[in-house]
Order: sequence, then C-alpha cells, then structure tokens
Amino acid sequence: MTGRQLIKAAKSAREFSYSPYSGFKVGAALLGKSGRVYTGCNIENASFSPTVCAERTALFKAVSEGEREFVSIAIVGNTDMCYPCGVCRQALGEFCGAGFKVYLEREGKPVMFTLGELLPGKFDFKK
Ligand code: THU
Repeated sequence: MTGRQLIKAAKSAREFSYSPYSGFKVGAALLGKSGRVYTGCNIENASFSPTVCAERTALFKAVSEGEREFVSIAIVGNTDMCYPCGVCRQALGEFCGAGFKVYLEREGKPVMFTLGELLPGKFDFKK
C-alpha cells in the first residue's frame, strides 16, 4: 500500500469526523503488518477532554481487534501538513518503532516522516 493510497483512505475516514466544537476534521488510516487498514476520525465531546484524535481512534480500533504491529499511518486534517499531536505520537510509539512511517499531505502530495524523527526520546520505562 502506497502513501498515496493510505492518504486516500484517511480522507474517506475524515468524512466521519465528529468535530462540532473545533470544526477541524481529521482522518487517519493505519496500515497493520497483516495488511489490514484501520481508519479513524476525531471524535469531540462537549466536555472537551474526552475528545479523541483520529490517530488514536485508528490505533485503538486496531489493537482492540488484535493487531499490534504496524507499517505506516496517513493523517489528513483541514490544513496542509496536519502533524500528529504529541499524545498521538506517544500512543503510536507504544506499538511502533522508529522506522514506522507517517504520511502527511503537502500540496496534494504525500510527505513521509519516520516516527523516530517525530518522536525523538520516546518515554519508555520498560528499558
Ligand atoms: N486532532 C486530531 O484528530 N489529531 C491530532 O493529531 C491533533 C488534533 C483533533 C482533535 C480535535 O478534535 C481537533 O483536531 C482540534 O484540535
């Protein structure tokens, strides 16, 4: 699955965004090592703090269905280059190594970063 294909899946997921408070729609598509793609959107809440980002929706869907190893994720927001927030970087880091690929969209084209670039010095008490 190419970055472009994953971005297309993230855009479809963005359609389901529930974001009446911010108006900022985000979609994500996470590729598991099994080949399955898990999509997610942001889901907001009147109480604000229960809001969950698109990336974590996709990640939690995947893990709750038994997938724990991942290849890549695509993220699209209302703006160009919608970077994952710090919480989502750390959540992805629980299951994904430094080589995990993160695709964003810039001017209609996929741009790739590694999780290692986006999350240097990941918190981990297990080592
Ligand atoms: N949001 C995401 O879905 N992913 C991110 O990585 C950053 C922010 C959502 C949360 C909220 O619904 C909206 O974008 C504005 O912060």
